[in-house]
Amino acid sequence: MSTERLLYENEVLELDNIVMTFGGLRAIDGVSMHIDKGEIAALIGPNGAGKTTIFNCITGVYKPTEGKIKIRSRSGAVEEIHGLKPNVINQKGLARTFQNIRLFNNMSVLENVMIGRHNSLKAGVLKAIVRDKATKEEEQRVIEESYEILKKLKLDPYTNEMAKNLPYGEQRRLEIARALATDPFLLLLDEPVAGMNAQETRDLEETIDIIRDKEHITILLIEHDMSLVMEVSERIYVLDYGRLIAEGTPKEIKHNPDVIRAYLGE
Ligand SMILES: Nc1ncnc2c1ncn2[C@@H]1O[C@H](COP(=O)(O)OP(=O)(O)OP(=O)(O)O)[C@@H](O)[C@H]1O
Ligand SMILES: [Mg+2]
Repeated sequence: MSTERLLYENEVLELDNIVMTFGGLRAIDGVSMHIDKGEIAALIGPNGAGKTTIFNCITGVYKPTEGKIKIRSRSGAVEEIHGLKPNVINQKGLARTFQNIRLFNNMSVLENVMIGRHNSLKAGVLKAIVRDKATKEEEQRVIEESYEILKKLKLDPYTNEMAKNLPYGEQRRLEIARALATDPFLLLLDEPVAGMNAQETRDLEETIDIIRDKEHITILLIEHDMSLVMEVSERIYVLDYGRLIAEGTPKEIKHNPDVIRAYLGE
């Protein structure tokens, strides 16, 4: 008899009993979680708990050793995505940023976003070489759409600057811009404010709210900055040694004795 849980109508992502082993290490040890459409959820826990590994499983960087990952695609259909390639998962509407910034350093800010846009348009290599009228028009559209995304992220003053010349906080924002350029319904942010100062953190908190409220994109974020997590997220999962030890509202998590013991401290 199957005990498989069905994806509810209001859910966009489900992890069903995910296990991820590296050699003898069980980095993820039977994690089940779900993300509701339109929510801002957080995944927290100590260093090495397995948070990034979960993102890597969701986005196809790793194929989980066991378990299933399902999404509710834009059409409303439920699809299994575990084992699919990262670019395929991205085209299905899941985008992410990385814990360590990964930008094309020697390309302009605009070009970094355009690359994300091109990936989502599946523009063929041949089409890019044969620069006919239609291709040129598409290129112009990609430039305009990419610029709009830069404006939303308040990066438009840097449009033609090389990515490597951006202040640190803006580099992190550019990563988010590039992820948004792929037109996701679910955005996964891995420590978006790591290394940011207090002002940059507040600005990004506002940006996260805008992305959800105005763009209607569901967000799952990993973060060690607890004031940001408690402020911005509606639901929190807590991971410790590859297992979930708690799930709840910020208030519930703050007062959960297991979470205090494992992570938050007294
Ligand atoms: N490719 C890999 N090969 C071997 N071990 C790995 C690999 N990726 C992750 N791990 C191990 O899996 C465990 C979980 O790592 P992970 O990066 O997911 O933790 P994390 O919760 O994101 O931690 P942090 O808060 O420090 O970013 C760690 O013990 C890590 O060393
Ligand atoms: Mg990590």
